[in-house]
Amino acid sequence: MSQTSRPAPESLTIRRPDDWHLHFRDGATMRAVVPHTARQFARAIVMPNLSPPVTTAQMAANYRARIMAAVPEGLDFAPLMTAYLTDDTDPEDLARGFADGVLTAAKLYPAGATTNSASGVTDIRRIDAVLERMAAIGMPLCIHGEVTDAEVDIFDREAEFIERVLAPLVARLPQLKVILEHITTEQAVDFLEAAGPQVAATITPQHLHINRNAILVGGIRPHMFCLPVAKRERHRLALRRAATSGSAKYFLGTDSAPHHRRDKESACGCAGIFNAPFALESYLAVFDEEDALDRFEAFASLNGPRFYGLPANEDRITLERVSVTVPDEVSGGETAIVPFHAGETLAWRLVD
Ligand code: DOR
Ligand code: ZN
Repeated sequence: MSQTSRPAPESLTIRRPDDWHLHFRDGATMRAVVPHTARQFARAIVMPNLSPPVTTAQMAANYRARIMAAVPEGLDFAPLMTAYLTDDTDPEDLARGFADGVLTAAKLYPAGATTNSASGVTDIRRIDAVLERMAAIGMPLCIHGEVTDAEVDIFDREAEFIERVLAPLVARLPQLKVILEHITTEQAVDFLEAAGPQVAATITPQHLHINRNAILVGGIRPHMFCLPVAKRERHRLALRRAATSGSAKYFLGTDSAPHHRRDKESACGCAGIFNAPFALESYLAVFDEEDALDRFEAFASLNGPRFYGLPANEDRITLERVSVTVPDEVSGGETAIVPFHAGETLAWRLVD
């Protein structure tokens, strides 16, 4: 083995990535945020937690058309739609939407877990018929994995969910394709490692960059608050190891969740971090720090499509080692939104 250290690469060319977990909202906010994602990604799994939520195939088709109308000319971008599961979801409608290509997946929000989740599922056993149908037709289930019981500490809600809800679900329906979204704990990583190939996870840039100190040390920092909330440092390190491990179980899902500045900087600030404008640069900083640039393409561009049974993108993007300063705020339609890394300088830049 040579002792000479490798020169740090100055650029990285990979297949165009996809974002497997994203919030676009609707109306003016949507029109302001869609271009950030469409510039970087070929596809994105679009979350259905609008108000009212996207609960049927027809609503998803209508929402998809509104998103497509917001994609800037010349960019090739495809939104992949999800249906918001409720206690009353009709398995027929879901199956038809999946067969027609309108729906790519369905999203389980435990009722009350996060933004616009009030109409979510009150008890997973109420949707047994829906989940059985999804398992039979190969339709993936995206899960917000937190219990909502008032007595469970917010920092324990993901680990409790895994033990009480997810492990029994996977045992009950071993064929069901499950994505545990935006994982934040070493318990999630341990669960994934022990699970079969039908269980996967997305990881956000913020959970790779920050631990809970970022939210609370030196004052409350609302722009660092999202759900599931960032945990202790030990958990962040477990997520970094998982994302950069080369394992096919983990893939890119930003959970970019735009909220206007006034809704974040409030006595009861909304959960959500808007990372879309510099998502690839943010992830790449982590892979660079972990000396895992050679594993970025699998995480960003290969593992997700393989899990969803879709082809990887054929075109390529290039990132170059040129520093870029993230603005303090970006346009959010009606009012401004503060992006993740606001005011910081990142070491890589996407070449347009
Ligand atoms: O922080 C979050 N924001 N977590 C979620 O689960 C939902 C999202 C949103 O829609 O704002
Ligand atoms: Zn989300």
